[in-house]
Amino acid sequence: MALPKVTVVGAGQVGATTAFLMATKQLADVVLVDVAEGIPQGKALDMMHARSVERFSSTVTGSNDYAATADSDVVVVTAGLPRKPGMTRDDLLAANGSIVRSVIAQAAEASPNAVFVCVTNPLDVMTYLAWKVSGLPSRRVLGMGGVLDSARFAYFIALATGAPITDIDALVIGAHGDGMVPVPSLSMVAGRPLTDVLPADEVTEVVRRTVYGGAEVVAFLKTGSAFFAPAASVTSMVEAVLHDTGAVLPSCVLLEGQYGLSDVYLSVPAVLGRQGVSGVPEVALGADDLEALRASAAGVAESVAALSIEA
Ligand code: APR
Repeated sequence: MALPKVTVVGAGQVGATTAFLMATKQLADVVLVDVAEGIPQGKALDMMHARSVERFSSTVTGSNDYAATADSDVVVVTAGLPRKPGMTRDDLLAANGSIVRSVIAQAAEASPNAVFVCVTNPLDVMTYLAWKVSGLPSRRVLGMGGVLDSARFAYFIALATGAPITDIDALVIGAHGDGMVPVPSLSMVAGRPLTDVLPADEVTEVVRRTVYGGAEVVAFLKTGSAFFAPAASVTSMVEAVLHDTGAVLPSCVLLEGQYGLSDVYLSVPAVLGRQGVSGVPEVALGADDLEALRASAAGVAESVAALSIEA
């Protein structure tokens, strides 16, 4: 049976890890694209060498040319600079803005029917830019932020409570940055809200560690940012799209009135399937969380304005 086709633009840490995960899970045949000559080809070949060991039949090919990406079902964009210690994701705005513009223009021309998933930071601004530059319906342009932030929240909840990670269903919404909004009241530990499981001061500490989870990794690595959890997170979104599961995942989507917000991309629970985003059902937020979400939206809108994005 023919597998779907997924293009991953950017064959760096996040892109290559994503390609390998998708191949080993037999989710798709993967085309890895990068501006750096030889890098996508070499990494793709290396992954193919693992085929008999990992026993997957997916193909991974590397290219510097978007012709190889034609008619992809999904395009994942990881091209761009990662953070260095001391940098915020917003420090990447101008440099990654021009990279995402050029990548999206070429990838959307080659695959006009694809679902696009942006990973490049600052995520919410880059996803909005990708939507504008592509000219595609917003349901087919989304970003990976909330899945990763929620996964980090889940990990820190597991550490603090001692509960198995599989019993935790955590939720972080808002911008993928310091303005993110972990939601303890909607984060469940074996079916009970975190706020009933941990004292308030411990919840505050888990939230703090979640917000700086990415920065903690950057501080250790010094030369780049996280890639294993980001790759796993975007792969789970691509799986929901390709298998048309209807899974509700916290995804960076265009808000059109939900939570009183519009014309901004932010992570909120969204229904994912073959057409991309098929619904954005509102979850019940407390007044503080709603206020934090709106502040998060204001921060993203400010960065979008700084980038002077035109349709
Ligand atoms: N087209 C295609 N690839 C590009 C382009 C471009 N215009 N510009 C840069 N790249 C490639 C680089 O050559 C490099 O191989 O993007 C890749 C980025 O890889 P890394 O430097 O390893 O960065 P990574 O850790 O993968 O992060 C990529 O994802 O999580 C975000 O903040 C992170 O914005 C960053 C992005």
